[in-house]
Amino acid sequence: MSAHGIARTTEGERAAVRASWAVLMKDYEHAGVQILDKFFKANPAAKPFFTKMKDLHTLEDLASSADARWHVERIIQAVNFAVINIEDREKLSNKFVKLSQDHIEEFHVTDPQYFMILSQTILDEVEKRNGGLSGEGKSGWHKVMTIICKMLKSKY
Ligand code: HEM
Repeated sequence: MSAHGIARTTEGERAAVRASWAVLMKDYEHAGVQILDKFFKANPAAKPFFTKMKDLHTLEDLASSADARWHVERIIQAVNFAVINIEDREKLSNKFVKLSQDHIEEFHVTDPQYFMILSQTILDEVEKRNGGLSGEGKSGWHKVMTIICKMLKSKY
């Protein structure tokens, strides 16, 4: 166990996570819009937190909105940062604990349960685009998403 209580990833897990993430990253703009669309459809109560997106209803609306694309790009970049730095827990903590604070104070996201739900939606898209994940891919991604969510929730 390391800081934040999440087991270290093995080399095999890291390789599987990186390889499967690269598949999504090749088409991240499109993937990002699909992730957001799926997330909002399954969780309509999360939508009011995104004040700039409240009038966007369809996949086409999201895809043509600069605000939606900006936001999803930030989220994808944050996950990318976690994938690259997964064993540098101090670096991760510096970024995601600050983001936790920002989601509370600046973005007024009052319900932290949605972090895990959005993470799962991202992971479903990774899995879909890879035609499934290996055992190491699954266990590696579980660690990545658990640490992201734990840190994003840390200031709540
Ligand atoms: C994997 C989970 C998530 C990650 C990694 C993430 C990351 C980020 C990042 C990096 C930003 C931009 C911060 C900046 O540039 O200062 C942001 C903004 C924001 N996030 Fe999240 N976020 C996540 C989940 C959520 C969820 C679940 C919600 C709401 C239910 C949410 C609501 C917002 C809002 C409202 C903003 C501001 C957007 C704007 O100004 O248009 N985030 N997020």
